[in-house]
Amino acid sequence: MGRLIVVSNRVATPTETKGSAGGLAVGVFGALKDAGGVWFGWSGDVVSETVANAGPMLVEDGPVTFATVGLTRKDYDQYYRGFSNATLWPVFHYRNDLARYERDEYAGYRRVNAWLAHKLMKLIHPDDNIWVHDYHLIPFAEALRAEGVRNRIGFFLHIPFPAPQVLQTIPPHDELVRSLSCYDLLGFQTSNDQQAFHDYIAREAHGKVSMRAANEEHGDVEAYGRKLRTGVYRIGVFPDEIAAQAARYESRQHVLDLKQSLEGRKLIMSVDRLDYSKGLVERFHAFEQLLETTPEWRGKVTLVQIAPPTRSDVASYKLIREELEREAGRINGRYSGLDYTPIRYLSQQYDRWKLMSLFRESQVGYVTPLHDGMNLVAKEYVAAQNPDDPGVLVLSIFAGAAAELTGALLVNPHDAASMSEALERALSMPLDERRARYQTNMAALRRNDLGVWRDSFLRDLAAVPQAR
Ligand code: G6P
Repeated sequence: MGRLIVVSNRVATPTETKGSAGGLAVGVFGALKDAGGVWFGWSGDVVSETVANAGPMLVEDGPVTFATVGLTRKDYDQYYRGFSNATLWPVFHYRNDLARYERDEYAGYRRVNAWLAHKLMKLIHPDDNIWVHDYHLIPFAEALRAEGVRNRIGFFLHIPFPAPQVLQTIPPHDELVRSLSCYDLLGFQTSNDQQAFHDYIAREAHGKVSMRAANEEHGDVEAYGRKLRTGVYRIGVFPDEIAAQAARYESRQHVLDLKQSLEGRKLIMSVDRLDYSKGLVERFHAFEQLLETTPEWRGKVTLVQIAPPTRSDVASYKLIREELEREAGRINGRYSGLDYTPIRYLSQQYDRWKLMSLFRESQVGYVTPLHDGMNLVAKEYVAAQNPDDPGVLVLSIFAGAAAELTGALLVNPHDAASMSEALERALSMPLDERRARYQTNMAALRRNDLGVWRDSFLRDLAAVPQAR
C-alpha cells in the first residue's frame, strides 16, 4: 500500500499533533502515522525569497515527515490574504458583498499553487495517495498534473460550496471548477455543497453527473474532458476523548474562577474565530432581545463569547471586530449592573482543553453561524457535556453540523426573536429533555466520528483507478 501525502495551507507542528491541536490535525496525523508519509504546506511564516526557495524544511517524526515552506510577502498578500481570504472565503460563505476581485491576486494564487506543487514533487513516490485540503489549494492537482504526477489526488473542501449563481460572482469561476475537475475525488461536508457543485457542472460546464444508485451521496462526474468522483464526508470529532479531557479539567483553577465569578448565574458559551461568517453580531442582538423581552433573566444569565482575531490584515475582519466591540459595549452599557456584565467578550486564544471544560460548565452552547462548512465547535460542545447534567446546544440551520445534531435547538440566525426564544427554552429546559437531546447528539457523533470521516475518504480515494 502507498503512503499518504497530506497537503494543506497550514500544517500542524509535530508537538501540536500530540497536544491540544484541533481534532482535524489529530485525525489527519493518525492517518499519516498509519500509512507513513508527508504533511506538506505553508509554515505560517513570511520570509525572504532566498529562504522561501531554499525550502521545504523537513522535520521527521517516526514515519511522518513534516515539510513546510515560507511565503514571500508578495505571495502571502496575493495568495493568502488576497484571493484565498478576500475573494474565495467571502463568496464561498455567501458574502459576495464583502468580496473583492483583483486579477493580480488571482494570478498570484495560481502562481503559488504551481510553486507549492513544484516544491512537493521531489517528495512524492509513485504509489502515494495525495490528499489536498481546502480552498487555498483548488488549482493544486492541476499544477501537479502539469508536472507529470499521475498519483491519485483527492480534495476535501472544509467550507461550503456556493450555489452556481453565487460562485459566478468570481470572474474566473469556470477556471476554478475546471481546476477542481483535475482531482480524482472531491469531498464535501454536506449534500447541499455536493449538489451545488453538481449543479454548476450540469448547468454551466455542460458536464454529466450521475449518482450511484447504492449510495446517493456518491456521484460520478464527467466534465472538461475528465472523469472524477464526488462524495459527502461529514467531518467529526473523537467525542469520547473530548468527554474525558473535559471531565479531567473540570476541577482546574480556571473553571473554579469562572464558577465563582458567575455567582450562580446561568452561562451561555460561544467560541469562534472572529469571522463575519460566524454571525456574532446577530448572536449578540438575539441575546439582547432575551434581556429586553424577558426581564427575569437580567442579572441571571451571562454570555461568554470567546473570539480570537484571525486574518486581521484583511479589511472586512477589521470591520467585524470594530462592530462587535461596539455592540458588546452598547449592550453591556444598557443591561450591566454594578455586579453584573451580561456579555463577557474575550478576543483571545484559549487552550483547547480549557475551552472544553468551560463548555462543560455552561447551560447553553450558542453556535449560530450565518454559513459554515461543518462547525466543529458545535460537535465539541456536545461531546464536552456532563452526561448527567448536560447543557443544550442552540445551533444555526446554516452550519453543516445541523444535519446531524438533531438533538440541538435549531435556529435561523437571521431571526433574532426566535433565537431569543430558543435561548429562553434552552435555559429553562428540564433535565429529562436535556438528557434525551444530549443522547441523540452523542449517538450521532459516535456514529460518524473523525476516524470515520478520514477512513471513508481515504478508502474512496484508494478505490479510484490510478492515472485515468
Ligand atoms: C477555516 C478554514 C481552514 C483554516 C482555518 C483557520 O477553518 O477552513 O482552512 O486553516 O479556518 O484560518 P487561517 O486563515 O487562520 O488559517
